[in-house]
Amino acid sequence: MTSNLQGGPPAELIFGEWYPAGRSAGLKKGKTTTALLCGVPLLLGRKNDGTVFAMRDLCPHRGIPLSAGWFDGNEVQCKYHGWKFEPCSGQCTEIPSLTGLDILQPTKIYATSYPCEERDGTCWVYLPEAGAGRRTAELPPVPEVPKFSAKFRSAHLTADLPCNVDHGIIGLMDPAHGPFVHQAWWWRSRASIHEKTKHFEPIPGGFRISSHAPSANSAPYKLLGVYGEPITTTIDFVLPNRRYETIRAGEKWFASLTTVTPVTASTCRIDVYAAWNVFYNVPLVKTIATFFGARFVRQDQETMIEQAQGLRFRPALMLIDDADQPAKWYFALKQARLTGIGEHPLKGPVELHWRS
Ligand code: FES
Ligand SMILES: [Fe+2]
Repeated sequence: MTSNLQGGPPAELIFGEWYPAGRSAGLKKGKTTTALLCGVPLLLGRKNDGTVFAMRDLCPHRGIPLSAGWFDGNEVQCKYHGWKFEPCSGQCTEIPSLTGLDILQPTKIYATSYPCEERDGTCWVYLPEAGAGRRTAELPPVPEVPKFSAKFRSAHLTADLPCNVDHGIIGLMDPAHGPFVHQAWWWRSRASIHEKTKHFEPIPGGFRISSHAPSANSAPYKLLGVYGEPITTTIDFVLPNRRYETIRAGEKWFASLTTVTPVTASTCRIDVYAAWNVFYNVPLVKTIATFFGARFVRQDQETMIEQAQGLRFRPALMLIDDADQPAKWYFALKQARLTGIGEHPLKGPVELHWRS
């Protein structure tokens, strides 16, 4: 789907992070699939023993995609000259053309493979910084949706966006588009726009909208209200691309992790992973939630497809106070991360005001 989307101007990408590369749920033993992540072509697969792997989809010999070859559930074999690789380590196990006179040891050769882990039905792939070597000793934890009970339901939504990851992310944290892009009878109306005060505080690599009584004019919060317990919500944004939202009312909870992932430097994809124990026993809740969630994501997607039309002309852009302040913090956090210089843009708790 991404391939037919026009890419706008590129963004600088953050490496040395876990990104969601593709759904692992449908990846059967002995099967592979391909993906594009931060401009890197990937071969994702599941070995017969159940482990998932992510290789750079390029043979180290002469560059043909490994996905053109074969996978027997244990080893990936290149189509061109038949080199074989253990896909988790990338180690070459066989070079068919070698004779007894050759001194080349295939096992000294490695295809590029990346750490790959499953969370929330998705393959998360760690893309190291350039020059970081084959394996980084200590990797950050794999992101996942927080869960607050043993039993829960979950859902996933995804949409390709034709803009670069920065536009995707600031669209994600932008409060002012809600009444215009997401107006619908079941959610809220444009007329319900009212002044809001939000409390932000710095957290490592991001910021938190402090726990507060949530927006009175949005439907999901009203749903949790039926339990008659006080509702608290927390929204965290964390580099490079993650928005965690947690809503709790007593024992009941709803949590989501939304990521905007660079597919290439000028295109991205939004994924929403949600889990909840609200209405656990009510049939069809997952279907209904997914339907409304998909509509919500599609509204963002359609808007960004239109925005991409304009961005092709590389217009100068504006970020205003206070509604675009989170976007300004994002750019400051990203610059600090990429350059290794600069401080956290929030020195302490901050209040922002806007109408939405
Ligand atoms: S290009 Fe893959 S084995 Fe030669
Ligand atoms: Fe939106």
